[in-house]
Amino acid sequence: MSEFETILVKQEGRVGIITLNRPEALNALNVRLGTEVLAAARAFDTDPGIGAIILTGSERAFAAGADIKEMAPRGFADMYVEDFFSGWDELARVRTPLIAAVAGHALGGGCELAMICDLIIAAENARFGQPEIKLGVIPGMGGSQRLTRAIGKAKAMEMVLTGRTMGAEEAERSGLVARVVPAAELMDQALATAEAIASMSKPIAMLAKEAVNIAFETSLAEGVHAERRLNHSCFATEDQKEGMVAFIDKRPPNFSHK
Ligand code: CAA
Repeated sequence: MSEFETILVKQEGRVGIITLNRPEALNALNVRLGTEVLAAARAFDTDPGIGAIILTGSERAFAAGADIKEMAPRGFADMYVEDFFSGWDELARVRTPLIAAVAGHALGGGCELAMICDLIIAAENARFGQPEIKLGVIPGMGGSQRLTRAIGKAKAMEMVLTGRTMGAEEAERSGLVARVVPAAELMDQALATAEAIASMSKPIAMLAKEAVNIAFETSLAEGVHAERRLNHSCFATEDQKEGMVAFIDKRPPNFSHK
């Protein structure tokens, strides 16, 4: 895809930035936007010059959900045969650390998209919610699963059943977001975090992300076993040598990202 219609893409140093850009629809996620986000994220993922990716929206909305106007006329067979929303699962397979910088509405698919990312940094005006039930549907991009894992059954059940939204402060207290920052500082703070991650070895950061994500798929014993194997594989990289020698030499490491 040479030209994007629904997103803006740029690179700052080793950080790739994808900005959702459908202001007329509060960044509602339509099929085209999903295809474009995935294409941009995949391109960054395989680029050795990129060590972290930021996904963001506008001050008013990260994303106000899946595009209701696009979904409204569809029937079960359309949704089922197209396996609607399944493309977003591919974003969870991107191995480069993905940061959601969220301001304003993160509702329905918008909240789910933020949760597909590895960590969420929220502006003070961010609002999270799964209001699908008010439209006669339920979450379809993983919200019932990822929200429950992030904040526990009691709050997730309340939000999914009533459609109640949660402000940034409650979201941080509940474990949904990593940090809340003043709205004017959102991108600077997200960029600082992304730059910190991108300054590490890319393969090691990928292994670290993989290790944490295993916690959501396995028993504790299997997870610890998998972590140990991933830890051992770090020792096959140039960056492990550099990181440890730099410590001993009392100088900052100069990772080759190999
Ligand atoms: N889909 C399509 N268009 C949307 C949209 C969405 N999810 N959310 C907002 N828009 C559009 C509005 O229709 C409106 O367009 P028009 O000017 O052409 O009428 C424009 O964006 C601005 O929205 P509002 O005028 O409603 O703005 P507001 O400030 O008064 O309200 C809001 C903001 C509370 C976020 C409100 O827009 C809203 O409730 N949006 C829908 C939220 C929602 O239900 N999301 C879940 C969608 S379903 C889903 O995501 C399924 C899934 O699991 C993946």
